[in-house]
Amino acid sequence: MGEFADKAVIITGSARGIGREIAAAFIQEGARVVISDVDAGACAETAAALGGQAEAIPANVTVKSEVENLVKQTKEKLGSVDVLVNNAGVTRDALFIRLKEEDWDLVLNINLKGTFLASQAAAGVMLKQRSGKIVNIASVSGLFGNAGQANYASSKAGVVALTKVMARELAPRNINVNAIAPGFIVTAMTDKLSAEIKENINKQIPFGRMGEVKDIADAVLFLASERASYITGQTIAVCGGLTMQS
Ligand SMILES: NC(=O)c1ccc[n+]([C@@H]2O[C@H](COP(=O)([O-])OP(=O)(O)OC[C@H]3O[C@@H](n4cnc5c(N)ncnc54)[C@H](O)[C@@H]3O)[C@@H](O)[C@H]2O)c1
Repeated sequence: MGEFADKAVIITGSARGIGREIAAAFIQEGARVVISDVDAGACAETAAALGGQAEAIPANVTVKSEVENLVKQTKEKLGSVDVLVNNAGVTRDALFIRLKEEDWDLVLNINLKGTFLASQAAAGVMLKQRSGKIVNIASVSGLFGNAGQANYASSKAGVVALTKVMARELAPRNINVNAIAPGFIVTAMTDKLSAEIKENINKQIPFGRMGEVKDIADAVLFLASERASYITGQTIAVCGGLTMQS
């Protein structure tokens, strides 16, 4: 059966990378999972590859009508919306002094506004159910800043703050809202880095290596589970000790 038997889980940006791994982990625990992504083709391919417990519902998280449709269709097909994982995210790195306005807007729109819109749509259903779990994927970049990531770090710091506000407002209806701040994880996002940069990064990580997508999935499943029912408004860094919050 599994810990999430028959739970309905939506994961944004889950056609690949960390989101896909989170989806696979929920399916392994018995959940019915909605694979959602702006890339409709990859979304359908991933859902097919993950098997019968996965449903593909494409949505661009920056478009309110698309995320509303995502939540509506999930409710119609699966009967409830028990878990939302706001995972869709992008980088457009540049030094702050040269950062283009359009790259500021794009990253803030997808990472922060997308999390707001998808959460607002899902919370509409969760408030009526008087239960639900929202897990936001932030980043250690949003906790300690990172040169070259003014847009990305600001968006993820915004996600951390939004997590706290939603946690306070939704707690009376038994809805938990938490965030995971991944450190450097081996994915397409970090494959782009040069060998030299990767070596420098590894030197700064107490465990001496980047994390695996499974490390993030494990933490997300914990926060979405009943074992974490007394935890809300928190951001847990899963980063091999790279950052240690006070
Ligand atoms: N990889 C890392 O080291 C790392 C570190 C910290 C945080 N993160 C965060 O983890 C999350 C997943 O990252 P990843 O490494 O798997 O990235 P990825 O690029 O492999 O996957 C991101 C997915 O989001 C989708 N997406 C992009 N824009 C979208 C939109 N507007 N609407 C819906 N979907 C959209 C993409 O199509 C893609 O499938 C992101 O929020 C990222 O910021 C990653």
